[in-house]
This record gives sequence, C-alpha cells and structure tokens, in this order.
Amino acid sequence: LVNLSEVAAFSVPSYACQRRTTLENHNTVLTDALSLLAENAELSEEDGRGVAFRRAAAVLKALPKPVASMTQLRGLPCLGEHSLRVIKDILENGASSEVESTKQSERYKALKVLTGIFGVGARTADRWIRDGIHNLRQLQDSGPTLNRAQQAGLEHYDDLNQPVSKSDADAIGEVVEKAVVSVLPGAHMTLIGGFRRGKLTGHDVDFLITHPEEGREVGLMPKLVSWLESQGFLLYQKTTRNSYLESKDGPARPASNMDRFERCFSIFKLTKEEKRGTKHPETLTENGAQTPDNGGLDLDLDLDQTKPAGHKPWRAVRVDLVVSPISQFAFALLGWTGSKLFERELRRWAGHEKSMSLSSHALYDNRQSKYLRATSEEEIFAHLGLEFVPPSERNA
Ligand code: GTP
Ligand code: MN
Ligand code: MN
Repeated sequence: LVNLSEVAAFSVPSYACQRRTTLENHNTVLTDALSLLAENAELSEEDGRGVAFRRAAAVLKALPKPVASMTQLRGLPCLGEHSLRVIKDILENGASSEVESTKQSERYKALKVLTGIFGVGARTADRWIRDGIHNLRQLQDSGPTLNRAQQAGLEHYDDLNQPVSKSDADAIGEVVEKAVVSVLPGAHMTLIGGFRRGKLTGHDVDFLITHPEEGREVGLMPKLVSWLESQGFLLYQKTTRNSYLESKDGPARPASNMDRFERCFSIFKLTKEEKRGTKHPETLTENGAQTPDNGGLDLDLDLDQTKPAGHKPWRAVRVDLVVSPISQFAFALLGWTGSKLFERELRRWAGHEKSMSLSSHALYDNRQSKYLRATSEEEIFAHLGLEFVPPSERNA
C-alpha cells in the first residue's frame, strides 16, 4: 500500500523572495549537507556553485514536511543534478559520501579554521594553505604579516567563534542606543540581520541607525564610534563608506546623495556589567568571579600556555553598525535584514522579472527610468510586485 500523501509532490515558487521561510526547518539533515557543499564552494571561490547549493538548500527549507522520497521532489525549482544526487545519497544511505569526504578533507578543515579568523577571506586562507599554514599554531609560528583586522581576529578568535545569544545582542543594543541618543538626540536604532528575523543566536549583532530629519545623520558614525571608544567598548573598529553599490552584486546607479551612507565593522567588548544591566534574569545568575583585566593583552586563544585557561569578565562580540539617511531607511532595513540568499533573490527578481535594480539605498525602474520611493518595506515589496514577507519568514 502506498501512502498517497507521502508521495504527493511538493510545490514551491522558484524565487526565495516569493516564499515564506520560517526558522522551522523539516529537512535539516538535507539542508545542512547542501549548505556544507555551498560553504566549501564559496571557500574555494567557486561562487556559482555556492549559489546553486544555497538555492537548493533554500527550496528544501521551505517544504512543509520532511522529504521521504525522490518522487516528491519532481518539478521543484533550483534542484540541479548535483544537489539531487546528494539528496538521493542521503535518503538511500543516510549520508552523502561527498559531504562526508569534504568534511574530512584537510583542505576544508584548514579553510574553516583560517577563515574563522575575522578579516581572513577565502583568498588569504588559500594563499596561507599553499604556504603550508593549516592551523592557528602554524600561523603563529610562520608569522605572515597580518593586517589590523586579522590581528584583532586572531586575538579574539575563541570569543568570535562562539555564537552570540539574543540576550548578548540586547545588552549591546542598550549600549549602542545610549551612545546614539547621546551623540545625536532624536536619532533611533533598529536591530537588523539575523536577530530581526527571529534567530536565537548569531555570528554578530547588526544595527541600523537613522534620524527622522534628512541630513541630520551626516557625521553621526564618527561621533558614535568616538563615544563608544572613549567608554572602552570597542576592541576594534573600521568605519567605511558603503561601497556595496560598486560591488559586483548590484548595478551602480548615480551616487548623488549616497556618499553619506556609512558603516562600521567592529569588535565590541561586552562586560558582565552590561549583561547584568539588561532585564534578562538568566544573566543575573552568573557568578561574577572577577579576574584581573590585563589591559586587553591576553590572547583568548589557548596557544599561550602561560595563561591560565578560563574566565575573563568580558567577551568579544562582532558588531556591525550602519547609518542611513531617512530617505533610504526602508531600503537599508530591507537590505540588511537578510538572509543573504533572500537578499540575493530579491535583487535577482527585481532585475530579471521586473527590469528594476534594487540595492540597500534605492529601487530604480529601468523601464520608467526613475527611482521608486518607499518609506516602508511593505511599499518596496509592492513596487516589486511581491507579496510582503515579514522578517521572520525571510530565513531562506
Ligand atoms: P548571522 O550574523 O550569522 O546571524 O546572520 P545574518 O543574517 O545577520 O548575517 P550578516 O550579519 O552577515 O548580514 C546581515 C545582512 O546584511 C545580510 O542580509 C547581508 O546580505 C547584509 N549585508 C552584509 N554585508 C553587507 C554589505 O556589505 N552591504 C549590504 N548592503 N548588505 C550587507
Ligand atoms: Mn548578523
Ligand atoms: Mn553582520
């Protein structure tokens, strides 16, 4: 006897931005496998293959229940030959031989460890591997020149590779909020990135800051950074103009008022005091055994055998700050909420289906040769001819 509901094929629209993808994933074994292959492709600078695996994983994340047989996948979009082979292997044998051998490979392991250092990308890691550097010990011993970001990344390696909890994100949010209103009264701050999508942990915390009066946000970022720095909250920061429009991801549109758009990649020092300041009872129970702060010179890396392993009264957390003029706020909010694949699919939809160019600054209609204004995310979805998808359902 065949259970018809089990073999009934799934149906899913082809762009991730046409779908509702919550954090409830019924196919984690399959999506973890495809995500690992995506990650491996990205680490090997094979971006095309990476996107293909990401899209395949995203289709499976959108399914209402676990995949039980290959026949259910008939007609689903974005499942190429390679992804189907991986899925089949897992359904039939419980695991994919390709995924397992990738996980075990020295090259993958080395790429993971090295790109786990903040400031180290696939290209740098590849160069180091070719020079015989496969782990942190070898990196320390052979001592290639590190830039400022990489030095900070190495120094705080353990902390930065620990997931950030929502309560840590909230504690940092309170500090940033305080900084924002002291340097520019009336400005306000929004949590963006994965935490806005409802994730319980993240690799960093992302904030978007604006002021309701256009132009008042000019110069805000340097002031904000100085305030945070003077209070000892920043272990590292690099403030830049947003050059995202010039990147290969988005078509460059006239940049008239866009040069004010700024962002800051930072490493935040979150102390137990800040954690306690928040209204999260779980952080109150922490036993604050204080160890002397040796001036930020200690490596949290356990390479230094002279340092007693264990507790310091703070942790390092990656924090991204973005400042946007109010006229671009909705685009910045949409563009920085993610997920990365959801964003990529929105831009692909805009370009391929609507002949529009979407960025985190603006939406340009190529047919009408004009910018389409929006003051909310809902309006942007409407311009794009898409049903509104709330942040918690953008977890593609
Ligand atoms: P975790 O931090 O791992 O929890 O996930 P996340 O979704 O928050 O990822 P991340 O912090 O890396 O990025 C948040 C959002 O910002 C994603 O949607 C990215 O697409 C977007 N983003 C990241 N870098 C840039 C950038 O340089 N420019 C723009 N416009 N967006 C970016
Ligand atoms: Mn994030
Ligand atoms: Mn981020």
